[in-house]
Amino acid sequence: MSQAKHFQHYMLKEIYEQPLAVSETAHEKDASGRSLIERVPWSLDELKALNRICIAASGTSRHAGIAGKFMLEALARIPTEVDFASEFQHWPVVLGPELLMLVITQSGETTDTLGAMRKAKKHVGIHTKAGPELSVPSTKAFTAQLTALFLLALRLAEARGNISSEYAQQCAAELALIPEKLKSVLGMDQRCLELGHKYWKHEDFFFAGRGVHYAIAMDGALKLKEVSYIHAEGYPSGEILHGPLALIDDRVVVVVIATCDPSDSESIVRYEKTISNIKEFKARSGKVIALACQGDRNVEALVDDVLYIPAAPDMLSPILEIVPLQLLAYHIAVLRGLDVDRPRSLAKAVVRE
Ligand code: AGP
Repeated sequence: MSQAKHFQHYMLKEIYEQPLAVSETAHEKDASGRSLIERVPWSLDELKALNRICIAASGTSRHAGIAGKFMLEALARIPTEVDFASEFQHWPVVLGPELLMLVITQSGETTDTLGAMRKAKKHVGIHTKAGPELSVPSTKAFTAQLTALFLLALRLAEARGNISSEYAQQCAAELALIPEKLKSVLGMDQRCLELGHKYWKHEDFFFAGRGVHYAIAMDGALKLKEVSYIHAEGYPSGEILHGPLALIDDRVVVVVIATCDPSDSESIVRYEKTISNIKEFKARSGKVIALACQGDRNVEALVDDVLYIPAAPDMLSPILEIVPLQLLAYHIAVLRGLDVDRPRSLAKAVVRE
């Protein structure tokens, strides 16, 4: 008889709930059989008239927005901007029927995000199916948001004639494989604990990624800093060469997202540039942990440690990549004796400005 896994903290439990959160968000249907995107009351004319998207959100939800920008621009070909909700409120945004404003929030209570939402003329909701998230660090809400954003990008792309319905179906089929791949990523928990033991005393971390993976670098850094109180910064990999490189020495850990989708020429170019960045970090004696696709033997020879994740299309692999970074942050914080569910100074919903 199988026994339910006992979790010491909500954070770990919620990390393990991600296959379900993604699957429910991707497949949930209402009584009329409509998915969470199909039930948004938009007319085809409204979708076709869009020529601009503005995303406003805070923290991890904003990181989902950064990944969403890549999905919306790559698939739906609509120029998309992402802003901090706290700044968006003061932004003299020009409203009109051609603008879609997206606000993203797990709690629905963040004052800055609600302030940004008040700018929009008409409101509709897309509700992810992650279930309640109790731990302050956001984990399953993030992967559910990425799933919803991918579905939204597909819906807009198809409605506007940017992709064929066959291609949309192919993408939906790839998304349907993600929950099983997430389960296999969770199998790396022990390996993340080992890395936690190896690196928990370091006081400076960089997280680096290119393209859509930059959003994951940002969120990996946020997870680590909020639960472990370690200084961590997320950067687009190439940007590290423009100044932050001066900080890298043997005391600094650089976590590099070096996954590659061989069917995507842009992804191959990004991967090659990332490899060259890794060499720069190692030349400064930085400790490098790479996230690479299973079967990639190039990266192993260059770095200190590798975390292998299953291959997936470039726009979907972020849902897999964030999980080992969440686990690494979790284990490092627990090894430091910290309360991961209620980190100091933080609240689940930020209701002050
Ligand atoms: C994430 O781990 C944080 N606790 C925090 O950044 C959070 O994502 C942010 O405050 C936004 O919250 P919301 O999604 O509930 O609006």
